[in-house]
Amino acid sequence: MAAVLKLGFIGGGEMGGALAHAMRKFRPLVSTSRNNRNLEIVRKCDIVFLCVRPRDIAAVAAQVKGELKEGQTLVSIAAGQSVAKLRRLFGRKARIVRVMPNLGVKAGLGMCAVAKTAAPSAGRVCELLSLCGKVAVIPEKDFDAFTAVAGSGPAYFAYMLAAMGRGGAKLGLKPADSARFALQTMLGTAKYLEASQASVDKFIDQVATPGGTTAAGQTALDESGRFAEIVEECLARCAARSKELGR
Ligand SMILES: NC(=O)c1ccc[n+]([C@@H]2O[C@H](COP(=O)([O-])OP(=O)(O)OC[C@H]3O[C@@H](n4cnc5c(N)ncnc54)[C@H](OP(=O)(O)O)[C@@H]3O)[C@@H](O)[C@H]2O)c1
Repeated sequence: MAAVLKLGFIGGGEMGGALAHAMRKFRPLVSTSRNNRNLEIVRKCDIVFLCVRPRDIAAVAAQVKGELKEGQTLVSIAAGQSVAKLRRLFGRKARIVRVMPNLGVKAGLGMCAVAKTAAPSAGRVCELLSLCGKVAVIPEKDFDAFTAVAGSGPAYFAYMLAAMGRGGAKLGLKPADSARFALQTMLGTAKYLEASQASVDKFIDQVATPGGTTAAGQTALDESGRFAEIVEECLARCAARSKELGR
């Protein structure tokens, strides 16, 4: 991809900052509410990433709409904001590409979704996102579900990690050791599952031999049936909020 491509980020917080860092070879221009270079970015850049919170999108649209050029690409990462809504706000000149990243991009291990679109620049956006992890092109109707599993997913895995750390500490480990052991275990599990392509259910059976220690612990997860239910409920509420933000 030509390194002369001009990239801009409106919003340089947690996610915009991480994406801009991953794409730093393009020397992107980054705007925040403090330096407010939004107009300069829209005037100068071929691809503009819109990385403000959903509640700030309308204000940015009102500010930059008049400066957008025919065929310019506007990439929105905002939760719940549909392409149709973004078109209403930003007009029809810019090509809108809707993306949902996750914070794995900070480690080069992001999982990003790009909504299927006819916009010719979508392929280029996928290439850019592949600088910070994996990219999947999915129908826009699946964005709320993707947001639940991947966009917000890092926080849910971290929640489990924190519970494992606290659980180990209750059994007598030093809290910092317990947290470290749990993190390495999560990392090893994810890396092994990815490298082996093993089915997750088979993997659980491999670890949990009948009558063994793992199986004894697993009874607590299985007995009430609540663990799977709680996870499903968590994802359902996240997806519902994503839908609600789009109204
Ligand atoms: N965080 C995640 O894990 C995650 C995951 C997937 C998608 N997203 C999406 O990413 C977007 C940003 O989330 P975030 O977590 O990065 O939020 P954040 O850390 O609060 O960052 C928001 C950024 O927008 C800037 N900003 C606000 N109003 C602006 C304006 N009018 N012009 C220019 N910049 C402005 C803020 O600048 P100041 O700091 O100067 O106010 C800040 O740099 C959201 O739409 C969210 O749905 C986030």
